[in-house]
Amino acid sequence: MSDVLILGIESSCDETAAAVVRNGREVLSNAINTQIEIHRQFGGVVPEVASRRHIQTIDGVIDKALSDANASFDDITAIAVTYGPGLVGALLVGVSTAKALAYALKKPLVPVHHIKGHIMANFIEHKELEPPFVCLVASGGHSHIVEVKSYTDIDILARTRDDAAGEAFDKIARVLGLGYPGGPLIDKLAKEGDKNAVHFPRVKMDGDSLDFSFSGVKTAVINYLHKLEQNGEGYNKADIAASFQDAVVDALCTHTIEAAKRTGNKTIALAGGVASNSALRAQMAERAADEGMRVLYPSPVLCTDNAAMIACAGFYGYLNGDRADMTLNAAATVKL
Ligand code: KG4
Ligand code: ZN
Repeated sequence: MSDVLILGIESSCDETAAAVVRNGREVLSNAINTQIEIHRQFGGVVPEVASRRHIQTIDGVIDKALSDANASFDDITAIAVTYGPGLVGALLVGVSTAKALAYALKKPLVPVHHIKGHIMANFIEHKELEPPFVCLVASGGHSHIVEVKSYTDIDILARTRDDAAGEAFDKIARVLGLGYPGGPLIDKLAKEGDKNAVHFPRVKMDGDSLDFSFSGVKTAVINYLHKLEQNGEGYNKADIAASFQDAVVDALCTHTIEAAKRTGNKTIALAGGVASNSALRAQMAERAADEGMRVLYPSPVLCTDNAAMIACAGFYGYLNGDRADMTLNAAATVKL
């Protein structure tokens, strides 16, 4: 088979990204324009602002991806684009751009599910990794445990019933006055704190369900701090950060390892922005080792939103015959 070069395009949230990936796993370029500085002043992503910024930057980001890869549009086999889930206005910028390119260049257009992209980042990082394995996908918008049975067959084993793990990190960081995005700031501060200072709840669903719930721990932290403030008592921010982080990480590890046990998998992969969390990586590795399992995760740049992961998922979708036509639309919510 001759080389397959996929141009991946991602614009589902606050990163405008384009990448060129050869044969699924070899990243030739990975261009990202992040809007974090723009949204920081609002304490979170403002959808309308994000869409406008994507429009301003997407052509330049695609040009950079091609030039970094030393490639031209002629070299590209197919164009892969995130069509959902995400912010619909933001997604539409990537989808419209990808459709225009596919039409003008007469190249196939491959639709990619954003969460599938996050999972596939593991294939880029670990060249020997093959399905099956269990993957925890935890980001600002999603917390899923899936079984990757093959490159095209992914079963959802658990999901969050309310907030995503990253959303809880961002919210508690705001309450502690740390800033945005909160995950990395809590991660850093927690290193100076005692994770056993306060025991915040870990929610267990009734029955066999491995679903997550993070709204309870979020509320518990907020109530705890309110009570201290009402009583005029101070608190150690690092202890709160460490204790909150431990409650979330404990739940993520317990459910994921149980999912791997139930499905008979010995490999656990992590994906999504929260997969960068140092306590999650350490605790998952330690507890998995006790069960004779191994844990893999992508480097931080491949955990947060990027287009290399979209191009990787696009490669396997391309081989599978996934194609979109000019009616492709953006979808705020869409099943995996
Ligand atoms: O995957 P991602 O870049 O975007 C979404 O698809 O949502 O994930 C962003 C989320 C944010 O909530 C951010 O706070 C969280 O990932 N995050 C972290 C860490 N780095 C990023 N959460 C905990 N610890 C980290 N080190
Ligand atoms: Zn994401």
